[in-house]
Amino acid sequence: MSKAAGRRPDRGYALYQEALERIPGGTQLISRRPQLYSPGLTPPYVSRGKGARFWDLDGNVYLDLMMCVGASILGYADDAVDAAVVAQIRNGTAFSVSSPLEVELARELAAVIPCAEMVRYCKGGGEANAIAVRIARGVTGRDKVLFCGYHGWHDWYLAANLESDEALDSHLLPGIRPQGVPQGLAGTALPFRYNDLSSLEAQLERHRGQIACIIMEPARGASLPAPGFLEGVRRLATAHGAVLIFDEVVTGFRLALGGAQERFGVVPDMATYAKAISNGYAMGAVAGRREVMQAASEMFISSTYWSDAVGLAASLATIRELRRRDVPARIGAFGQAFQDLFNGLAQDHGVPLYATGLPQLIGIGYRDLAPELRRPLKDYYVQELTRRGIFGSLSVNPCAAHGDDELAEIEQALREIFPLLRAALREGDWESRLVARSVDAFRRQVG
Ligand SMILES: Cc1ncc(COP(=O)(O)O)c(C=O)c1O
Repeated sequence: MSKAAGRRPDRGYALYQEALERIPGGTQLISRRPQLYSPGLTPPYVSRGKGARFWDLDGNVYLDLMMCVGASILGYADDAVDAAVVAQIRNGTAFSVSSPLEVELARELAAVIPCAEMVRYCKGGGEANAIAVRIARGVTGRDKVLFCGYHGWHDWYLAANLESDEALDSHLLPGIRPQGVPQGLAGTALPFRYNDLSSLEAQLERHRGQIACIIMEPARGASLPAPGFLEGVRRLATAHGAVLIFDEVVTGFRLALGGAQERFGVVPDMATYAKAISNGYAMGAVAGRREVMQAASEMFISSTYWSDAVGLAASLATIRELRRRDVPARIGAFGQAFQDLFNGLAQDHGVPLYATGLPQLIGIGYRDLAPELRRPLKDYYVQELTRRGIFGSLSVNPCAAHGDDELAEIEQALREIFPLLRAALREGDWESRLVARSVDAFRRQVG
């Protein structure tokens, strides 16, 4: 606890005040806003990182359970990936003609990803999805998109909330206003429910002959595909002539080297990647069957930095290291150990939280807890983790740098924190325990 008490990221918050004056919203990624976690304690800024740890501007070190929203699958500043990037930087990174690494990476992706006969590159997940949807619309000549999950910030997706401001509620976050998205896109992006084939079928029937693609997260945090669900989606997509796109921005290279499509044995027409593909360097990819992807050669899909060799070199090195170190299996073993530890201690202490989902992609949910107690319980959990030098919330993204030492540190912290949570639930004295409450913002609900 003494370690906890001295841990105040004051320099970070001084800078964040300036950021709020100069950068709308303060951060570039909404889930980096410190007010979503434990305001005043959660560090707004990082100075450096290594393995599963990072240091804030005030010299405090944190064991990270989020790992750059899952992007850093090997750990921060990974020696092998960084060596490949540094070597590339010494030779230059972007030129008037393309890098041969584009073809080398295409070969590597085709070897690893079941649907990847052809690939295109970009710089992030939302961008990869925008490209995939454009290709699907181009190849089918249809406009409408059925979606299930979170797919980024672009117009095609947020258009879902133009007709009903609740369309995105169970896919992204409640109450998002599609401000700035053209009204003309109303009715072009339509949601269906995860693990509910009849909701997909109903949409396909209602919009028969108009659906360009079905884009979905094949597994979503705590939600795993029910038996036959992904197979059913595949069958319906084919029957209705719609392109099936798996958004593997989170699941890719994590559930298995070939992502969810390898893990669950259902192959889409296209799939999108970012995050773990390059262990912290800007990179994204769209992979797919030749028949669909080839259409992109006739379409205007083009950008200067999409052939930047830093992202390409980082991706090649990352994929080779993931294979060499058997990372999906290793992070699965760590994640399983985390879930067992968390659930055992939660049960022992009578704390109504449980760790669920695939071990490579863990969600923490509430067990039979009144809705009004969920937010204070989460805030208290995050606050006490932060005080003990652990950066975490209700999702855990295991990485290759998480091992026995980290698990022991987590165990020590949970053994201290769970009795506090139990006492707070018993006493209801949240106000005296919470330094600050988190602020509602754009976050998906877990559980
Ligand atoms: C499933 C999924 N798709 C797309 C994205 C968007 O990726 P990016 O933030 O790289 O644009 C995310 C980001 O969290 C995601 O989780």
